[in-house]
Amino acid sequence: MNIIHATTIGDCNIIQLPKISDPRGNLTFVEGENHIPFEIKRAYWIYDVPGGEKRGGHAYKTLGEFIIALSGSFDVTLDDGNEKKTFSLNRSYFGLYVPSMVWRTIENYSTNGVTLILASEHYTPENYIRDYAAFITAKGL
Ligand code: TYD
Repeated sequence: MNIIHATTIGDCNIIQLPKISDPRGNLTFVEGENHIPFEIKRAYWIYDVPGGEKRGGHAYKTLGEFIIALSGSFDVTLDDGNEKKTFSLNRSYFGLYVPSMVWRTIENYSTNGVTLILASEHYTPENYIRDYAAFITAKGL
């Protein structure tokens, strides 16, 4: 695994996706390596989140992701070991790009909040860092 440890909050950004407005209903799309800086290898979604619950609470060693609020709203808190920043997502034509080695937590889900996550790698448990102290050590901090 080629781990890039030096990623920071500054490498994370909100990306606005195309929105085709139409009286029949709006349409948005996303293309890997075009709108977002990686090839999409996996998509998963989080839904039916009970009030007050948190998701995430981990970093990935070598995996970038793009987080979209397909429905409703929630907050994504990012932490690079030096700095924390919270992004509120509530529009389905905006997404948050998060590279590897950034700790992230998703919380404050609204009713019907649905998170779509596009990932640059297939699922492997080995790609996760779930222990915050181990994350800080891996960042060299
Ligand atoms: P996890 O990534 O910890 O969820 P979150 O970050 O939203 O809190 O995943 C929860 C469980 O689902 C864990 O047991 C691994 C499993 N899982 C898969 O099997 N495949 C996947 O693509 C994902 C994202 C999770």
